Amino acid sequence: MTATLAPTFPSRTQEILDALASSGQLKLLQTIEGPMDATVRLRGRGEVVCLCSNNYLGLANHPEVVEAGIAGLRQYGAGTASVRFICGTFDCHERLESRIAEFYGVEAAYTFTSCWNANEAIFPTLCEGGDMIVSDELNHASIIDGIRLAASIKKGLLRCVYRHGDLAALRERLSAARANPEVTGTIWVVTDGVFSMEGDIADLPGIRMLCDEFGALLVVDDSHGTGVMGQTGRGTHEHWGLAATRIDYFTGTLGKALGGAAGGYIAGSRAAIDLIMQRGRPTLFSNALPCSVACSAEKAIEVLMREPQRVAKLRDNVTYARAAIAAAGFSVLKSPTAICPIIVHDTAKAIRMSRQLLDLGVFVIGFGFPVVPEGHARLRVQISAAHERAHLDALVAALGKLER
Ligand SMILES: Cc1ncc(COP(=O)(O)O)c(C=O)c1O
Repeated sequence: MTATLAPTFPSRTQEILDALASSGQLKLLQTIEGPMDATVRLRGRGEVVCLCSNNYLGLANHPEVVEAGIAGLRQYGAGTASVRFICGTFDCHERLESRIAEFYGVEAAYTFTSCWNANEAIFPTLCEGGDMIVSDELNHASIIDGIRLAASIKKGLLRCVYRHGDLAALRERLSAARANPEVTGTIWVVTDGVFSMEGDIADLPGIRMLCDEFGALLVVDDSHGTGVMGQTGRGTHEHWGLAATRIDYFTGTLGKALGGAAGGYIAGSRAAIDLIMQRGRPTLFSNALPCSVACSAEKAIEVLMREPQRVAKLRDNVTYARAAIAAAGFSVLKSPTAICPIIVHDTAKAIRMSRQLLDLGVFVIGFGFPVVPEGHARLRVQISAAHERAHLDALVAALGKLER
């Protein structure tokens, strides 16, 4: 049976790849030959201004962060060679987790090898049958998959989405959930802090008020807000003047502002973190965060807490870049975040413009369908505290030379 079916697999795979190529959706990977920074050395291109990384605070190549990783490698070796509960918990994990909890001002935190894994751990572990998860429709793919996984594992776990950023729609979902006799447990509201494709932010005070009114718990994935939003970079809740304790659980990544290497975490109550340690499948069945990465991430958080001026510089760069892009005649979705999407509508146009920008020494990626809805293709510009005005001016000059 397998022998007769097997030959169809290569042709099926090739057909999918050919279809992607002919519809202009095939992604071509650009290879970087040095460290991530304001500029990067691209294979075949040389030095270009990098405006598409998540290196929001410029810590990916910060000397102290790099040195901490090297020291971690020397002290702990190359790998943990174990999941956390067997023999993969090292003192650097405990230090990092205390540092994350301190950074937020919450009871406890627990790390994973990615925020993807954190989101795949939190919902299947903490939610039970009779619960209802209410999720913003534009939440990150890892939240969507985490919720799907939870619903497939926990019988009777209900889920629904609300229209993006629409508090009236959220109220309607919460009210329906409260009236639903099948909802016998906890109601969960889940949102990104900063939405990765739109660069807009969740109205956390409004969402919190609704959670309080309907007795729901609030989970915020602030992967793009941590280190970016608020006076001291604590995240989107700080931007809104909301205490961290008003968010029940945070998930986040160490792969963006906090050093940019890899890793994710859940932060919140001690009891929930203890349960995740006991039952979370990504932590029970997958290796611990490499120690060198844990050491780098701990240092990155230390640098961020010590130098809030990095956050201020990022904010200034964002204000400058957004105004300059608009002055150059491009429409950029309004928001205070470091993600500045320039909407060009057509996928092929976004890809063509991205190539032209690269020819002009500016590295910005074009996103089209299916990453964003049809007709909403965009160039996604991401600003960093590593950028100087000259880098941002180079972007604007290159945008001015594009064929529209
Ligand atoms: C909101 C959000 N959550 C989770 C992730 C996944 O993070 P990681 O790269 O740590 O898996 C991302 C990354 O793009 C993200 O934007």
